[in-house]
Amino acid sequence: MFEDKVVVVTGAASGIGRQTAIEFARQGAKVVVADIDEKGGTEVVAALRNDGHDAVFVTTDLTVEADCRNLIAAVVDGFGRLDVLVNNAGIEITTPFHEMSEHEWDRLVDTNLKSMFLCSKHALREMITARSGAIVNVCSVSGLVAWPGIAAYNSTKGGVMMLTKSLAVDYAKYNIRANCVCPSIIDTPMTDVSNGHDADIKAEKAKLNPIGRLGTPEDVANAILFLASDKSSFITGSALTVDGGYTAI
Ligand code: NAI
Repeated sequence: MFEDKVVVVTGAASGIGRQTAIEFARQGAKVVVADIDEKGGTEVVAALRNDGHDAVFVTTDLTVEADCRNLIAAVVDGFGRLDVLVNNAGIEITTPFHEMSEHEWDRLVDTNLKSMFLCSKHALREMITARSGAIVNVCSVSGLVAWPGIAAYNSTKGGVMMLTKSLAVDYAKYNIRANCVCPSIIDTPMTDVSNGHDADIKAEKAKLNPIGRLGTPEDVANAILFLASDKSSFITGSALTVDGGYTAI
């Protein structure tokens, strides 16, 4: 489905991004893995190459404009084009809102929202020249409804939602589409016990989804690939829930 296409996936050293990079590669794309985690990113690319895919890793701190500019320049220098940008990288900080430091707020906003501004800005310059492109942002159900206890995170995802719609409106004339996916809780390192999440609470949260299980990285990756593909050529500015029915209640 993506033969000869060049796809950048941010935050692809882990979780949803990692699986998304794998699925794009399986569909024939040349994949650029961008992440601050050198070890994880290098491992993902090594595994992809081992399976015969074309993939490169670019160490990128997505909160720094110079890094995002270099990332897009490296993609265009290396592959001569950029077809798809998946803005996936994000973090969660669970400090209660009234105890959250300014530094924590800034880290959340910079990682979850500013990174999408910076990468999209530089990618759009290439896509405008090419008069073609697709951007898929990884938002969350918490961009649609307030997930309890994480007001700051929810706020960043609300921003991602409006960024997506705005890019869709402003860049449609260049044949560039922008959409986002809104997952509910997905089984990744972000929601793992190692990241401060309680296994029992996670199981309880799974029951909130009418489908009755947690989402998998594959569930989200499949939706991202659809929104990046020509199969969704009349879809832009949309938010596709990947939530087992969580927001349908
Ligand atoms: P994860 O923690 O497994 O992966 C996140 C990746 O982003 C990591 O590889 C990390 O190194 C990278 N990253 C973080 N800060 C970075 C920076 N400054 N520069 C470059 N890379 C950076 O997380 P997961 O679960 O795969 O999350 C991916 C996206 O999905 C995030 O935007 C998250 O908010 C969103 N999401 C996750 C849900 C879940 O339940 N896991 C639910 C809804 C949305």
